[in-house]
Amino acid sequence: MVPREFIEELKARCDLEEIIRTYIPLKRAGANLSGCCPFHSEKTPSFTVFPDKHFYCFGCGAGGDVITFIMRQENLDYMGAVEYLANRAGLTVPRDGERRDEGGRRTRVLEMNREAARYFRAMLFSPAGSEAMAYLTGRGLDGATIKRFGLGYAPASFGGLCDHLHKLGYTDEEMVTAFLCGKSRKTGRPYDYFRNRVMFPIIDVSGNVIAFGGRVMDDSKPKYLNTSDTPAFKKSRNLFALNYAKGNCSEQMILCEGYMDVIALHAAGFLCAVATLGTAITAEQARLMTKYTQRVVISYDSDEAGQRAAQKALRILGEVGLETRVLRMNGAKDPDEYIKNHGADRFRQLLANSVTGFAYRLDNVLAQHDPAIPEEKIKASAELCRIIAGSYSHVEREVYLAEAAKRLELPVDVLRNDVEREAKRLSRERRQQESRDAQAAAAGFGDRVNPDMAKNMRIARAEETVLGLMLLYDEHRAAVASGKIELTEADFFTAFGRRVFSAVLALETSDGGFDVGLLGAQFSPEEIGRIERMRLGRRELSENGISVLRESAALLREDAQRRNAEQGGALSAVERRRAALAAAKEQKTKG
Ligand code: UTP
Ligand code: MN
Repeated sequence: MVPREFIEELKARCDLEEIIRTYIPLKRAGANLSGCCPFHSEKTPSFTVFPDKHFYCFGCGAGGDVITFIMRQENLDYMGAVEYLANRAGLTVPRDGERRDEGGRRTRVLEMNREAARYFRAMLFSPAGSEAMAYLTGRGLDGATIKRFGLGYAPASFGGLCDHLHKLGYTDEEMVTAFLCGKSRKTGRPYDYFRNRVMFPIIDVSGNVIAFGGRVMDDSKPKYLNTSDTPAFKKSRNLFALNYAKGNCSEQMILCEGYMDVIALHAAGFLCAVATLGTAITAEQARLMTKYTQRVVISYDSDEAGQRAAQKALRILGEVGLETRVLRMNGAKDPDEYIKNHGADRFRQLLANSVTGFAYRLDNVLAQHDPAIPEEKIKASAELCRIIAGSYSHVEREVYLAEAAKRLELPVDVLRNDVEREAKRLSRERRQQESRDAQAAAAGFGDRVNPDMAKNMRIARAEETVLGLMLLYDEHRAAVASGKIELTEADFFTAFGRRVFSAVLALETSDGGFDVGLLGAQFSPEEIGRIERMRLGRRELSENGISVLRESAALLREDAQRRNAEQGGALSAVERRRAALAAAKEQKTKG
């Protein structure tokens, strides 16, 4: 555990508002601040920062303190976030052995990755790497590009990297954690995960080697192997070559599918190219892009899969407010091949001719439905009206309407009618969906954090009342800890409520004392969001006195007794604990 005093000092020095403002803009809303949530896509702000230095998003339920915010935002575990903030504030986290293990895991993985990258590079430039070197130069890469991207070669052996890392003092467990080694199911011995592949290190914006991609040099499968998620890496949150592109992309960024596309583009002077890491683009990656650029040119493979992926990318990038373009390419399957066949200047032309997302979809629709045929024209117009109605901005809609009307040779007013009708239908559908979602949420269905909630809403609410009060007020926590209010872990009906109760009580009765920020060490950010909701739910009510606590606690006790009676148990755990508590209390009053 980190001492409570340190967490308090950390939170005092790392102002939540100031830190959040480095990620998203905030506006004043009464005593609070509000903005568009950085953890889910939204257009109307439901992310709120409260004066007590806590945040909560009424849209997605993310919430907590500055530590939780950094855990989510920077994808760190609790100790990682504490260290991150300590660094920022110029503090040193007080350490003991156990803590070093927890917080240092990420650092160890990063150090190991750096060593692995050095090893792969040395192998590429050694005689063992001659075939790999020939492969890379055969694909048109010069020495400077190979060095700049830190490319390497993982030899065909099963133990080269493992042995090397062993010598440097890394354990089998650490290598497996870093995804550099697998563990043999038969012998339990580690073996190199990447074998006989050319290696592409993935480097984050701070220059850390966070992962690898490795490509075979022939047609065998799988073509690429990638590092899975580790304590230092989440592929849905990173982009290949962003470390190189970040200083060159304020105007626009080029988004490709493949590592080789990006490398070819950089080698040809397009320094703003990035790629996802073997997956379709995620909302997190899109939000990451917004930190560095305004406009993204999607430059995916020209095959059908690539074009389908482009449609999806258009939507995801649009949702975070990025301006989007699509680059269209004929006579080559991907940017790498295009540049090789036609040169950088022709690619520059493609870039200049890239079209807006709407124009791209307009062309696609018209390619599928020939407007010279009446029935097809009707279909095309219906589809385009749906697309246009999906846009929130009236200006945008007008611009698109004009374009569509011209291409379809239809009066704008006629199309506008259809678009408006479609927009109304869409917004009705959205409202209905929202109220369905709200109803389901109110009934506790689909609740991942507290799945027991739906089984007995009345009792689950009483639990939240008790916990909310204990989280908020010292005197209520003390009342429960001292036994003045009789309540034990076993009185709780939901497993989540029970866990929160035990954790709060354990902190309260520990030497260090309670601070809500310490809960982050035991609960996931999602769970912390729920804990935040409990606090918030109580704080907004004016009646938060001991009588509320007493009544809710009584309700929980009664229900626990009823459950017990139904189970027909003799002297249950609840009763035993209660008897013990009562005895202790009696002892106290006597003494
Ligand atoms: P491509 O097959 O288009 O790869 O997959 P590429 O980059 O053009 O590769 P070359 O030109 O054949 O060398 C696009 C991306 O999808 C991921 C990789 O990130 C790749 O760069 N991928 C592909 C995998 O992760 N695994 C695979 O087996 C294949
Ligand atoms: Mn390719």
